[in-house]
Amino acid sequence: MEWQWIQRGRADAESQVRRWLAGRLGGTPEALPLQRDAHGRPRLGAPLAGYDLSWSHSGDGLLMAWANGQRIGVDCEQLRPRPRAVEIARRYFTDGETAWLATHSNEARDAAFLRLWCAKEAVLKAHGRGLAFGLDRLEFAERDGALQLRSCNAALGPAGAWTLRELVPASGVIAALASIDAALLPALAA
Ligand SMILES: CC(C)(COP(=O)(O)OP(=O)(O)OC[C@H]1O[C@@H](n2cnc3c(N)ncnc32)[C@H](O)[C@@H]1OP(=O)(O)O)[C@@H](O)C(=O)NCCC(=O)NCCS
Repeated sequence: MEWQWIQRGRADAESQVRRWLAGRLGGTPEALPLQRDAHGRPRLGAPLAGYDLSWSHSGDGLLMAWANGQRIGVDCEQLRPRPRAVEIARRYFTDGETAWLATHSNEARDAAFLRLWCAKEAVLKAHGRGLAFGLDRLEFAERDGALQLRSCNAALGPAGAWTLRELVPASGVIAALASIDAALLPALAA
């Protein structure tokens, strides 16, 4: 598994990802079998179907990741004031997550909210339905300073099988990379 953060410039994200991945997996960027599933999730087809990829953009930055034998999802967000953080958490997060946010001072709450947001969206992007799946159908909790998936809907597989890497890929950017053994993630319902 590997991730990279780059400044995107004018190029579109998929072209950048193609160039980056072709440099690692071989072949030309144009020939990389990068496809989209019915929900818009990028995936790799044969002969690279055992690999997975995900990317996320924020401002001019692009976070991209790939893995072999695992399903992965990445998400990144700019750290900036989020005056509606608590309101959004109450509406879309679980009660446990909202209570955890409330333990933070006003100054620390924006970063905590974004850590949670990125963690949840990273898992949902790995799964493939994105936010449409429901942010309240998975719950993260902080343990020893790191967020871990505590419980989730059965469609996401066993909560304990997920690994979350919290990343700070650039100054003022918060990100997460979620991964699970591809064999442990139930097939996506149509
Ligand atoms: C799609 C979604 C995951 C993107 O998240 P975001 O924070 O707005 O944007 P990010 O920069 O983090 O990620 C964008 C990338 O996610 C990927 N993506 C798109 N659909 C995805 C999906 N269903 N699952 C996983 N990844 C997806 C693409 O690589 C996209 O990059 P692109 O715009 O260059 O094609 C999010 O908007 C979402 O969940 N929306 C709800 C579902 C939805 O509306 N789907 C649209 C098709 S029906």
